[in-house]
Amino acid sequence: MNGQKFSPIKFQDGMLLILDQTKLPTTTEYLEMHTKEDVWHAIHKLQVRGAPAIGIAAAYGSYISVKGSMEQDYEGFYTEFCMVKDYLDSARPTAVNLSWALSRMEQCVKENKSCTVEEIKGAMLKEAERIKTEEETACLAMGEYGLSLLKSGMGILTHCNAGILATSKYGTALAPLYVGQEQGYAFNVFADETRPLLQGARLTAWELNQSGIPVTLICDNMASMVMKNGWIDAVLVGCDRMAANGDGANKIGTSGVAILAKEYGIPFYMCVPTSTIDFDTPNGEEIKIELRSGDEISQMWYEKEMAPAGIQTYNPAFDVTEAKYITAVITEKGIAYPPYEESLRGLLEK
Ligand code: MRU
Repeated sequence: MNGQKFSPIKFQDGMLLILDQTKLPTTTEYLEMHTKEDVWHAIHKLQVRGAPAIGIAAAYGSYISVKGSMEQDYEGFYTEFCMVKDYLDSARPTAVNLSWALSRMEQCVKENKSCTVEEIKGAMLKEAERIKTEEETACLAMGEYGLSLLKSGMGILTHCNAGILATSKYGTALAPLYVGQEQGYAFNVFADETRPLLQGARLTAWELNQSGIPVTLICDNMASMVMKNGWIDAVLVGCDRMAANGDGANKIGTSGVAILAKEYGIPFYMCVPTSTIDFDTPNGEEIKIELRSGDEISQMWYEKEMAPAGIQTYNPAFDVTEAKYITAVITEKGIAYPPYEESLRGLLEK
């Protein structure tokens, strides 16, 4: 079964383990998470990344951060939990799954107010497990809905990594491909390398390869060419935060791919679990975009500096694809079509 070989997050024998994605594709190494600092660092440095995976890591991370708490009464424990929650929430700003998962953990603590602190800790672990299982179920459902839009033999373009590594199992944007594989479909997948951190090259190409799905790696600036060649029948991407109007923030470069797809008449599908939809954010302009170090552009991956020393850089980690470029939003509750203000809320109420 896909996704079992290299789960990005494992919780076994009371230990939280994170597959260090900064070491892929050459090294498969799990890191032990002991403290809240370990978890914050793992999320901040993208050792664990991808919106749903960040949420799952934070949920377990909040548990392991307070499981050794010496507080005996609820008020003291709740105060300690809130400090951990705010701290972990500060690791990255754009993917809403981080605060969404931590809010669920807080809700769990509050709902168990009348229990002993040890019982609350037990409930927290169960809640983290529930979040992980729910995300896996959602990914499978997105895979089935997504597959209903595809045909065997299609050429698929994807950007960044929205696969098993970004979730827990199946992925979001890659889920239709894995579900299709299980049902005998064949796809020609093209993976944008995804500058500057190369999630497409290091992660998507790696996990599809591991899973036996043929994939062709291209540089980001080749997307137009493969579309023009007629090799792409659909674009599948993930999302880090979708606003109420259907604008979706995803890895930098996604909006360019969407604009190209519209020009070439290719459907552009965003795969978005409902945990990634933020109805409190009315539109994409309100989404906070993470800015990262310019070294990722000028130095990282190169043996020597590839830009003049001290050059000014601009390195936004995400961009917002406007709803008008998104053909459909694939969620675990069904497929939403424009106008998204109505269709997304309609799905949520299902
Ligand atoms: O910076 P990253 O690697 O965390 O960015 C990840 C993405 O942009 C993914 O496409 C997104 O989280 C969707 S993942 C299922």
